[in-house]
Amino acid sequence: MPPAVPTFILSPHWGKQFIHGRAWRASRSVWCRAGRHSLAVSGQTRRGRLQASTSTTAAAAPEASAPSASSVPLARPSYATDALSVFRWLLEDPRTLLYAGGSSLRSGFFLALRLFNINAYARSQQFAQNSKVGTLLSQSSTLSAQRNLVVFFLQQLYKLGRLEMEQVRAGVYKTPPFLARSPWRVLPRAIDFAQDLRRGLELREQERTDAIPQAFLRDTFYPWYYKRNFHYQTDGYFSADSARRYDFQVEVLFGGTADIMRRQALVPLLPFLRAVRSQRLAHGVGNGARFTPGHTTDVLNVPCGAGSFLLDLLDNVASDMRLRGAHVVNVDLSPFYLREAERRFRDDSRLRALPHVTFLHANTEQLPLERESFDAVVSIYLFHELPDEARRNTIAEWTRVLRPGGRVVLADSLQAGDDPQLDATLSRFRKGYHEPFYDSYVQTDMAQLFHEASGGALKLKSQTLAFLTKVFVFEKVGVMPRQ
Ligand SMILES: C[S@@+](CC[C@H](N)C(=O)[O-])C[C@H]1O[C@@H](n2cnc3c(N)ncnc32)[C@H](O)[C@@H]1O
Repeated sequence: MPPAVPTFILSPHWGKQFIHGRAWRASRSVWCRAGRHSLAVSGQTRRGRLQASTSTTAAAAPEASAPSASSVPLARPSYATDALSVFRWLLEDPRTLLYAGGSSLRSGFFLALRLFNINAYARSQQFAQNSKVGTLLSQSSTLSAQRNLVVFFLQQLYKLGRLEMEQVRAGVYKTPPFLARSPWRVLPRAIDFAQDLRRGLELREQERTDAIPQAFLRDTFYPWYYKRNFHYQTDGYFSADSARRYDFQVEVLFGGTADIMRRQALVPLLPFLRAVRSQRLAHGVGNGARFTPGHTTDVLNVPCGAGSFLLDLLDNVASDMRLRGAHVVNVDLSPFYLREAERRFRDDSRLRALPHVTFLHANTEQLPLERESFDAVVSIYLFHELPDEARRNTIAEWTRVLRPGGRVVLADSLQAGDDPQLDATLSRFRKGYHEPFYDSYVQTDMAQLFHEASGGALKLKSQTLAFLTKVFVFEKVGVMPRQ
Protein backbone atom coordinates (compact mmCIF):
# COMPACT_ATOMS: atom_id res chain seq x y z
CA MET A 1 0.00 0.00 0.00
CA PRO A 2 1.30 3.48 -0.78
CA PRO A 3 1.47 5.84 2.19
CA ALA A 4 -1.50 8.09 2.79
CA VAL A 5 -0.59 11.08 0.72
CA PRO A 6 -2.98 13.88 1.43
CA THR A 7 -4.73 16.05 -1.08
CA PHE A 8 -4.38 19.38 0.45
CA ILE A 9 -4.11 23.09 0.14
CA LEU A 10 -2.03 25.19 2.48
CA SER A 11 -4.13 27.04 4.93
CA PRO A 12 -3.59 30.21 6.95
CA HIS A 13 -4.84 28.35 10.02
CA TRP A 14 -3.06 25.10 10.44
CA GLY A 15 -5.26 22.18 11.23
CA LYS A 16 -8.42 24.21 10.83
CA GLN A 17 -9.15 25.19 7.31
CA PHE A 18 -8.52 22.36 4.92
CA ILE A 19 -10.16 22.83 1.62
CA HIS A 20 -10.14 19.17 0.93
CA GLY A 21 -8.26 16.21 2.26
CA ARG A 22 -5.74 16.21 5.05
CA ALA A 23 -2.47 17.90 5.71
CA TRP A 24 0.39 17.50 8.02
CA ARG A 25 3.14 19.75 9.00
CA ALA A 26 6.46 18.48 10.16
CA SER A 27 8.32 21.13 12.07
CA ARG A 28 8.75 23.97 9.63
CA SER A 29 8.10 22.00 6.53
CA VAL A 30 4.82 21.57 4.81
CA TRP A 31 3.58 18.67 2.75
CA CYS A 32 0.91 18.95 0.22
CA ARG A 33 -0.38 17.00 -2.67
CA ALA A 34 -1.81 19.08 -5.40
CA GLY A 35 -4.72 17.56 -7.14
CA ARG A 36 -5.84 20.44 -9.31
CA HIS A 37 -4.21 23.13 -11.28
CA SER A 38 -6.39 25.82 -9.81
CA LEU A 39 -5.15 25.34 -6.27
CA ALA A 40 -3.26 28.34 -5.05
CA VAL A 41 -1.06 28.37 -2.03
CA SER A 42 -1.13 31.41 0.11
CA GLY A 43 -0.81 30.44 3.70
CA GLN A 44 0.99 31.13 6.92
CA THR A 45 3.81 29.05 8.21
CA ARG A 46 4.70 29.50 11.86
CA ARG A 47 7.22 32.15 10.93
CA GLY A 48 5.63 33.88 8.02
CA ARG A 49 3.67 33.83 4.83
CA LEU A 50 4.41 30.96 2.55
CA GLN A 51 3.76 32.94 -0.56
CA ALA A 52 3.32 36.62 -0.93
CA SER A 53 2.90 38.13 -4.27
CA THR A 54 0.84 40.97 -5.51
CA SER A 55 3.33 42.20 -8.00
CA THR A 56 2.08 43.36 -11.34
CA THR A 57 2.71 41.24 -14.40
CA ALA A 58 5.06 42.58 -16.94
CA ALA A 59 3.51 41.92 -20.31
CA ALA A 60 5.64 39.34 -22.06
CA ALA A 61 6.57 40.69 -25.43
CA PRO A 62 6.72 37.88 -27.97
CA GLU A 63 9.65 38.11 -30.33
CA ALA A 64 9.34 38.51 -34.06
CA SER A 65 11.40 35.44 -34.86
CA ALA A 66 11.94 32.45 -32.60
CA PRO A 67 15.38 32.46 -30.97
CA SER A 68 17.78 29.57 -31.21
CA ALA A 69 20.19 28.18 -28.62
CA SER A 70 23.02 28.61 -31.12
CA SER A 71 22.67 32.40 -30.82
CA VAL A 72 23.84 32.20 -27.19
CA PRO A 73 27.47 31.05 -26.89
CA LEU A 74 27.99 27.76 -25.08
CA ALA A 75 30.64 28.32 -22.40
CA ARG A 76 32.98 25.31 -22.12
CA PRO A 77 35.37 25.83 -19.24
CA SER A 78 38.50 23.79 -19.81
CA TYR A 79 41.84 23.45 -18.06
CA ALA A 80 45.27 22.18 -18.98
CA THR A 81 45.78 18.63 -17.72
CA ASP A 82 49.55 18.29 -17.96
CA ALA A 83 51.37 17.32 -14.77
CA LEU A 84 52.96 20.74 -14.24
CA SER A 85 49.65 22.64 -14.45
CA VAL A 86 47.99 20.18 -12.11
CA PHE A 87 50.87 20.51 -9.65
CA ARG A 88 50.81 24.32 -9.76
CA TRP A 89 47.08 24.38 -9.23
CA LEU A 90 47.34 22.12 -6.21
CA LEU A 91 49.86 24.41 -4.56
CA GLU A 92 47.96 27.64 -5.18
CA ASP A 93 45.93 27.54 -1.99
CA PRO A 94 46.04 25.17 1.01
CA ARG A 95 42.29 24.58 0.68
CA THR A 96 42.88 23.25 -2.82
CA LEU A 97 45.11 20.45 -1.57
CA LEU A 98 42.56 19.42 1.01
CA TYR A 99 39.78 19.62 -1.53
CA ALA A 100 41.73 17.66 -4.16
CA GLY A 101 42.62 14.94 -1.65
CA GLY A 102 39.03 14.61 -0.45
CA SER A 103 37.44 14.59 -3.90
CA SER A 104 39.98 12.11 -5.27
CA LEU A 105 39.29 9.70 -2.41
CA ARG A 106 35.57 10.17 -2.84
CA SER A 107 35.68 9.75 -6.58
CA GLY A 108 38.05 6.76 -6.32
CA PHE A 109 35.51 5.05 -4.06
CA PHE A 110 32.60 5.63 -6.47
CA LEU A 111 34.68 4.71 -9.50
CA ALA A 112 35.64 1.42 -7.85
CA LEU A 113 31.94 0.70 -7.36
CA ARG A 114 31.30 1.65 -10.96
CA LEU A 115 33.84 -0.94 -12.13
CA PHE A 116 32.34 -3.49 -9.78
CA ASN A 117 28.98 -2.69 -11.31
CA ILE A 118 30.19 -3.08 -14.91
CA ASN A 119 31.91 -6.36 -14.09
CA ALA A 120 28.89 -7.73 -12.26
CA TYR A 121 26.74 -7.11 -15.34
CA ALA A 122 29.31 -8.43 -17.74
CA ARG A 123 29.74 -11.64 -15.71
CA SER A 124 26.09 -12.37 -16.12
CA GLN A 125 26.56 -14.62 -19.19
CA GLN A 126 22.93 -14.88 -20.03
CA PHE A 127 22.60 -11.12 -19.94
CA ALA A 128 25.62 -10.56 -22.15
CA GLN A 129 24.40 -13.06 -24.73
CA ASN A 130 20.80 -12.04 -24.80
CA SER A 131 20.76 -8.31 -24.80
CA LYS A 132 22.38 -5.48 -26.68
CA VAL A 133 22.99 -3.66 -23.42
CA GLY A 134 24.73 -6.75 -22.09
CA THR A 135 27.03 -6.81 -25.11
CA LEU A 136 27.87 -3.15 -24.59
CA LEU A 137 28.60 -3.67 -20.93
CA SER A 138 30.74 -6.72 -21.52
CA GLN A 139 32.73 -4.71 -24.08
CA SER A 140 33.33 -2.05 -21.46
CA SER A 141 34.51 -4.67 -18.98
CA THR A 142 37.78 -5.38 -20.79
CA LEU A 143 40.83 -4.24 -18.88
CA SER A 144 41.81 -1.53 -21.35
CA ALA A 145 38.24 -0.16 -21.52
CA GLN A 146 38.22 0.08 -17.74
CA ARG A 147 41.59 1.78 -17.62
CA ASN A 148 40.38 4.32 -20.18
CA LEU A 149 37.25 4.92 -18.16
CA VAL A 150 39.22 5.59 -14.98
CA VAL A 151 41.70 7.92 -16.71
CA PHE A 152 38.86 9.76 -18.42
CA PHE A 153 36.95 10.25 -15.16
CA LEU A 154 40.02 11.41 -13.27
CA GLN A 155 40.75 14.02 -15.95
CA GLN A 156 37.18 15.22 -15.82
CA LEU A 157 37.26 15.25 -12.04
CA TYR A 158 40.30 17.48 -12.11
CA LYS A 159 38.63 19.91 -14.54
CA LEU A 160 35.42 19.96 -12.52
CA GLY A 161 37.43 20.40 -9.33
CA ARG A 162 39.17 23.44 -10.77
CA LEU A 163 35.88 24.86 -11.89
CA GLU A 164 34.45 24.31 -8.44
CA MET A 165 37.43 25.71 -6.53
CA GLU A 166 37.45 28.81 -8.71
CA GLN A 167 33.84 29.45 -7.76
CA VAL A 168 34.69 28.87 -4.12
CA ARG A 169 37.67 31.22 -4.25
CA ALA A 170 35.57 33.86 -5.97
CA GLY A 171 33.08 33.58 -3.11
CA VAL A 172 30.23 32.34 -5.32
CA TYR A 173 29.57 29.39 -3.03
CA LYS A 174 31.15 27.90 0.03
CA THR A 175 33.60 25.00 0.14
CA PRO A 176 31.55 21.82 -0.14
CA PRO A 177 31.97 18.85 2.21
CA PHE A 178 35.21 17.12 1.20
CA LEU A 179 34.15 13.52 1.62
CA ALA A 180 30.59 12.74 2.66
CA ARG A 181 27.93 14.51 4.67
CA SER A 182 27.17 11.40 6.69
CA PRO A 183 30.32 9.22 6.57
CA TRP A 184 28.76 6.60 8.88
CA ARG A 185 26.12 5.92 6.22
CA VAL A 186 28.55 5.24 3.39
CA LEU A 187 29.30 1.59 4.15
CA PRO A 188 25.66 0.47 4.64
CA ARG A 189 24.76 2.35 1.46
CA ALA A 190 27.52 0.60 -0.49
CA ILE A 191 26.34 -2.82 0.74
CA ASP A 192 22.76 -1.99 -0.10
CA PHE A 193 23.84 -0.77 -3.54
CA ALA A 194 25.67 -4.04 -4.25
CA GLN A 195 22.72 -6.12 -3.05
CA ASP A 196 20.34 -4.22 -5.29
CA LEU A 197 22.46 -4.76 -8.42
CA ARG A 198 20.88 -8.13 -9.13
CA ARG A 199 17.37 -6.69 -9.17
CA GLY A 200 18.44 -3.94 -11.55
CA LEU A 201 20.09 -6.54 -13.74
CA GLU A 202 16.94 -8.65 -13.86
CA LEU A 203 14.84 -5.67 -14.93
CA ARG A 204 17.39 -4.87 -17.63
CA GLU A 205 17.55 -8.47 -18.83
CA GLN A 206 13.79 -8.65 -19.14
CA GLU A 207 13.61 -5.05 -20.39
CA ARG A 208 10.87 -4.54 -17.81
CA THR A 209 9.96 -0.93 -17.24
CA ASP A 210 6.66 -1.16 -15.37
CA ALA A 211 7.78 -2.99 -12.23
CA ILE A 212 6.41 -0.48 -9.75
CA PRO A 213 3.94 -1.11 -6.91
CA GLN A 214 0.45 -1.83 -8.33
CA ALA A 215 -1.31 0.87 -6.33
CA PHE A 216 0.77 3.53 -8.03
CA LEU A 217 0.26 2.05 -11.48
CA ARG A 218 -3.45 2.62 -10.98
CA ASP A 219 -3.18 6.05 -9.36
CA THR A 220 -4.24 8.70 -11.87
CA PHE A 221 -2.50 11.45 -9.91
CA TYR A 222 0.73 10.28 -11.53
CA PRO A 223 1.17 10.99 -15.26
CA TRP A 224 1.67 8.08 -17.67
CA TYR A 225 5.27 8.93 -18.40
CA TYR A 226 6.22 8.76 -14.73
CA LYS A 227 4.96 5.26 -13.92
CA ARG A 228 8.01 3.31 -15.00
CA ASN A 229 11.42 2.13 -13.85
CA PHE A 230 13.63 4.95 -15.04
CA HIS A 231 17.24 3.70 -14.96
CA TYR A 232 15.81 0.16 -14.40
CA GLN A 233 15.67 1.24 -10.80
CA THR A 234 13.94 -1.08 -8.34
CA ASP A 235 10.40 0.29 -7.71
CA GLY A 236 10.98 3.29 -10.00
CA TYR A 237 10.37 6.43 -7.92
CA PHE A 238 7.83 4.62 -5.77
CA SER A 239 9.49 3.34 -2.63
CA ALA A 240 11.49 4.52 0.34
CA ASP A 241 14.28 2.08 -0.61
CA SER A 242 14.54 3.62 -4.05
CA ALA A 243 14.69 7.11 -2.54
CA ARG A 244 17.38 6.09 -0.04
CA ARG A 245 19.53 4.55 -2.78
CA TYR A 246 19.09 7.13 -5.49
CA ASP A 247 21.81 9.70 -4.81
CA PHE A 248 24.33 6.97 -4.11
CA GLN A 249 23.50 5.24 -7.42
CA VAL A 250 23.85 8.49 -9.32
CA GLU A 251 27.25 9.13 -7.75
CA VAL A 252 28.38 5.66 -8.84
CA LEU A 253 27.11 6.25 -12.37
CA PHE A 254 29.04 9.52 -12.60
CA GLY A 255 32.15 8.28 -10.79
CA GLY A 256 31.75 10.69 -7.86
CA THR A 257 31.22 13.81 -9.98
CA ALA A 258 27.40 14.15 -9.72
CA ASP A 259 27.29 16.51 -6.75
CA ILE A 260 29.95 18.76 -8.27
CA MET A 261 27.96 18.95 -11.50
CA ARG A 262 24.75 19.73 -9.60
CA ARG A 263 26.51 22.53 -7.72
CA GLN A 264 27.22 24.28 -11.01
CA ALA A 265 23.60 25.41 -10.82
CA LEU A 266 24.58 27.48 -7.77
CA VAL A 267 26.86 29.61 -9.96
CA PRO A 268 24.11 31.58 -11.72
CA LEU A 269 21.65 31.14 -8.85
CA LEU A 270 23.34 32.49 -5.72
CA PRO A 271 24.70 35.80 -7.10
CA PHE A 272 21.24 36.46 -8.53
CA LEU A 273 19.57 35.83 -5.15
CA ARG A 274 22.09 38.09 -3.42
CA ALA A 275 21.40 40.84 -5.93
CA VAL A 276 17.62 40.57 -5.55
CA ARG A 277 17.91 40.57 -1.78
CA SER A 278 20.12 43.63 -1.64
CA GLN A 279 17.87 45.44 -4.08
CA ARG A 280 14.86 44.64 -1.89
CA LEU A 281 16.59 45.65 1.32
CA ALA A 282 17.81 48.88 -0.27
CA HIS A 283 14.24 49.74 -1.11
CA GLY A 284 12.83 48.75 2.23
CA VAL A 285 11.25 45.61 0.91
CA GLY A 286 11.58 42.45 2.94
CA ASN A 287 10.15 43.84 6.14
CA GLY A 288 6.98 45.15 4.62
CA ALA A 289 3.80 43.42 3.67
CA ARG A 290 4.81 41.85 0.40
CA PHE A 291 7.81 39.68 1.05
CA THR A 292 7.39 39.30 4.78
CA PRO A 293 8.49 38.50 7.32
CA GLY A 294 12.06 37.62 6.77
CA HIS A 295 11.55 36.26 3.26
CA THR A 296 13.95 38.19 1.18
CA THR A 297 13.89 35.88 -1.81
CA ASP A 298 11.74 32.94 -2.88
CA VAL A 299 13.27 29.95 -4.63
CA LEU A 300 11.45 27.00 -6.14
CA ASN A 301 13.59 23.84 -6.26
CA VAL A 302 11.84 21.39 -8.57
CA PRO A 303 12.37 18.48 -8.51
CA CYS A 304 14.23 18.22 -5.22
CA GLY A 305 14.70 14.44 -5.64
CA ALA A 306 16.38 12.84 -2.65
CA GLY A 307 17.90 16.14 -1.58
CA SER A 308 21.58 16.33 -2.57
CA PHE A 309 21.37 19.69 -4.27
CA LEU A 310 19.01 21.04 -1.64
CA LEU A 311 21.58 20.42 1.09
CA ASP A 312 24.26 22.26 -0.88
CA LEU A 313 21.90 25.14 -1.50
CA LEU A 314 20.89 25.36 2.17
CA ASP A 315 24.52 25.11 3.32
CA ASN A 316 25.04 28.39 1.52
CA VAL A 317 21.85 29.99 2.78
CA ALA A 318 22.82 29.05 6.35
CA SER A 319 26.32 30.41 6.16
CA ASP A 320 25.99 33.50 3.99
CA MET A 321 24.46 36.65 5.46
CA ARG A 322 23.75 37.87 1.94
CA LEU A 323 21.35 34.98 1.39
CA ARG A 324 19.54 35.25 4.71
CA GLY A 325 15.80 34.93 4.64
CA ALA A 326 15.70 32.92 1.42
CA HIS A 327 12.57 30.83 1.29
CA VAL A 328 13.15 27.49 -0.44
CA VAL A 329 10.14 25.52 -1.65
CA ASN A 330 11.00 21.95 -2.68
CA VAL A 331 8.69 20.09 -5.02
CA ASP A 332 8.78 16.49 -6.17
CA LEU A 333 6.26 14.08 -7.62
CA SER A 334 7.58 11.17 -5.58
CA PRO A 335 6.35 11.27 -1.98
CA PHE A 336 9.22 8.96 -1.08
CA TYR A 337 11.92 11.14 -2.56
CA LEU A 338 10.38 14.19 -0.94
CA ARG A 339 10.45 12.45 2.44
CA GLU A 340 14.04 11.41 1.96
CA ALA A 341 15.03 14.99 1.10
CA GLU A 342 13.19 16.21 4.16
CA ARG A 343 14.79 13.60 6.38
CA ARG A 344 18.27 14.60 5.24
CA PHE A 345 17.44 18.26 5.80
CA ARG A 346 16.18 17.49 9.28
CA ASP A 347 19.19 15.32 10.16
CA ASP A 348 21.45 18.34 9.84
CA SER A 349 21.08 20.44 12.96
CA ARG A 350 22.44 23.57 11.30
CA LEU A 351 20.13 23.34 8.31
CA ARG A 352 16.97 22.39 10.16
CA ALA A 353 17.29 25.65 12.10
CA LEU A 354 16.53 27.49 8.86
CA PRO A 355 13.00 28.83 9.18
CA HIS A 356 11.81 28.91 5.59
CA VAL A 357 12.11 25.50 4.01
CA THR A 358 8.99 23.89 2.59
CA PHE A 359 8.24 20.56 0.91
CA LEU A 360 5.36 20.10 -1.54
CA HIS A 361 4.19 16.92 -3.15
CA ALA A 362 3.12 18.09 -6.59
CA ASN A 363 3.48 17.70 -10.32
CA THR A 364 5.63 20.43 -11.82
CA GLU A 365 3.10 20.65 -14.68
CA GLN A 366 0.41 21.83 -12.24
CA LEU A 367 1.98 23.68 -9.38
CA PRO A 368 -0.26 24.59 -6.43
CA LEU A 369 1.52 27.92 -6.13
CA GLU A 370 0.52 31.52 -6.62
CA ARG A 371 1.44 33.31 -9.79
CA GLU A 372 4.50 35.55 -9.63
CA SER A 373 5.53 34.31 -6.22
CA PHE A 374 9.12 33.21 -6.94
CA ASP A 375 12.32 35.00 -7.81
CA ALA A 376 14.02 31.89 -9.11
CA VAL A 377 13.24 28.36 -10.21
CA VAL A 378 16.08 25.86 -10.04
CA SER A 379 15.69 22.49 -11.68
CA ILE A 380 18.23 19.68 -11.82
CA TYR A 381 18.04 16.61 -14.08
CA LEU A 382 14.32 16.83 -14.82
CA PHE A 383 13.86 17.69 -18.48
CA HIS A 384 15.45 14.53 -19.92
CA GLU A 385 12.77 12.52 -18.05
CA LEU A 386 9.80 14.42 -19.46
CA PRO A 387 8.06 13.99 -22.81
CA ASP A 388 7.78 17.10 -24.95
CA GLU A 389 4.25 18.01 -23.86
CA ALA A 390 5.15 17.79 -20.17
CA ARG A 391 8.21 19.96 -20.77
CA ARG A 392 5.99 22.60 -22.35
CA ASN A 393 3.44 22.46 -19.51
CA THR A 394 6.28 22.74 -17.04
CA ILE A 395 7.76 25.80 -18.71
CA ALA A 396 4.31 27.44 -18.78
CA GLU A 397 3.95 26.79 -15.04
CA TRP A 398 7.36 28.16 -14.23
CA THR A 399 6.58 31.26 -16.29
CA ARG A 400 3.39 31.70 -14.29
CA VAL A 401 4.98 31.38 -10.84
CA LEU A 402 8.06 33.50 -11.62
CA ARG A 403 8.10 37.20 -10.86
CA PRO A 404 8.96 39.53 -13.74
CA GLY A 405 12.74 39.64 -14.03
CA GLY A 406 12.93 36.24 -12.32
CA ARG A 407 15.33 33.52 -13.34
CA VAL A 408 15.16 29.84 -14.27
CA VAL A 409 18.36 27.88 -13.69
CA LEU A 410 18.09 24.50 -15.36
CA ALA A 411 20.81 21.85 -15.18
CA ASP A 412 20.47 18.70 -17.21
CA SER A 413 22.44 16.40 -19.47
CA LEU A 414 24.64 17.91 -22.12
CA GLN A 415 23.07 17.67 -25.58
CA ALA A 416 23.98 16.20 -28.94
CA GLY A 417 26.97 17.96 -30.48
CA ASP A 418 28.04 19.73 -27.26
CA ASP A 419 31.01 17.41 -26.86
CA PRO A 420 31.54 15.26 -29.97
CA GLN A 421 33.69 12.88 -27.89
CA LEU A 422 30.61 12.01 -25.85
CA ASP A 423 27.96 11.81 -28.59
CA ALA A 424 28.25 8.02 -28.84
CA THR A 425 27.77 7.70 -25.07
CA LEU A 426 24.65 9.88 -25.21
CA SER A 427 23.16 7.71 -27.91
CA ARG A 428 23.55 4.57 -25.74
CA PHE A 429 22.00 6.14 -22.69
CA ARG A 430 18.34 5.82 -23.67
CA LYS A 431 18.43 2.07 -24.04
CA GLY A 432 21.08 1.25 -21.45
CA TYR A 433 19.35 3.14 -18.65
CA HIS A 434 15.75 3.15 -19.77
CA GLU A 435 15.43 6.86 -20.44
CA PRO A 436 12.67 6.95 -23.08
CA PHE A 437 12.63 10.76 -23.46
CA TYR A 438 16.36 11.26 -23.40
CA ASP A 439 16.90 11.21 -27.18
CA SER A 440 14.30 13.87 -27.75
CA TYR A 441 15.80 15.99 -24.95
CA VAL A 442 19.34 15.88 -26.37
CA GLN A 443 18.00 17.03 -29.76
CA THR A 444 15.87 19.87 -28.36
CA ASP A 445 16.73 23.48 -28.99
CA MET A 446 16.07 24.75 -25.48
CA ALA A 447 16.01 28.46 -26.39
CA GLN A 448 13.26 27.81 -28.88
CA LEU A 449 11.33 25.47 -26.61
CA PHE A 450 11.34 27.98 -23.74
CA HIS A 451 10.41 30.80 -26.08
CA GLU A 452 7.42 28.92 -27.48
CA ALA A 453 6.16 27.40 -24.22
CA SER A 454 6.50 30.62 -22.23
CA GLY A 455 4.79 32.77 -24.85
CA GLY A 456 8.04 34.65 -25.40
CA ALA A 457 8.47 35.48 -21.71
CA LEU A 458 11.54 33.35 -20.96
CA LYS A 459 14.75 34.15 -22.79
CA LEU A 460 17.93 32.13 -22.83
CA LYS A 461 20.64 34.19 -21.17
CA SER A 462 23.53 31.73 -20.90
CA GLN A 463 24.50 28.08 -21.22
CA THR A 464 27.54 26.45 -19.68
CA LEU A 465 28.98 22.94 -19.88
CA ALA A 466 30.31 21.12 -16.84
CA PHE A 467 31.41 17.63 -17.98
CA LEU A 468 28.12 15.72 -18.55
CA THR A 469 25.90 18.55 -17.37
CA LYS A 470 24.74 21.72 -19.05
CA VAL A 471 23.46 24.67 -17.05
CA PHE A 472 20.96 26.92 -18.79
CA VAL A 473 19.85 30.30 -17.46
CA PHE A 474 16.58 31.82 -18.66
CA GLU A 475 15.22 35.17 -17.57
CA LYS A 476 11.65 36.34 -17.49
CA VAL A 477 10.93 39.54 -19.33
CA GLY A 478 10.29 42.45 -17.01
CA VAL A 479 11.90 44.06 -14.02
CA MET A 480 11.76 42.76 -10.46
CA PRO A 481 9.14 44.71 -8.55
CA ARG A 482 10.87 46.98 -6.07
CA GLN A 483 8.25 47.25 -3.45
C1 LIG B 1 16.57 12.26 -12.32
S1 LIG B 1 15.74 12.71 -10.85
C2 LIG B 1 16.54 14.22 -10.37
C3 LIG B 1 16.31 14.56 -8.93
C4 LIG B 1 17.17 15.68 -8.36
N1 LIG B 1 16.86 16.96 -8.90
C5 LIG B 1 18.62 15.36 -8.49
O1 LIG B 1 19.37 16.20 -8.91
O2 LIG B 1 19.00 14.26 -8.12
C6 LIG B 1 14.20 13.20 -11.43
C7 LIG B 1 13.28 13.64 -10.33
O3 LIG B 1 12.19 14.30 -10.94
C8 LIG B 1 11.01 13.95 -10.27
N2 LIG B 1 9.93 14.18 -11.26
C9 LIG B 1 9.77 13.58 -12.46
N3 LIG B 1 8.69 14.06 -13.09
C10 LIG B 1 8.17 15.01 -12.27
C11 LIG B 1 7.06 15.88 -12.36
N4 LIG B 1 6.24 15.86 -13.42
N5 LIG B 1 6.81 16.73 -11.35
C12 LIG B 1 7.64 16.76 -10.27
N6 LIG B 1 8.71 15.96 -10.12
C13 LIG B 1 8.98 15.09 -11.12
C14 LIG B 1 11.22 12.51 -9.87
O4 LIG B 1 10.37 12.14 -8.85
C15 LIG B 1 12.68 12.53 -9.47
O5 LIG B 1 12.82 12.86 -8.12
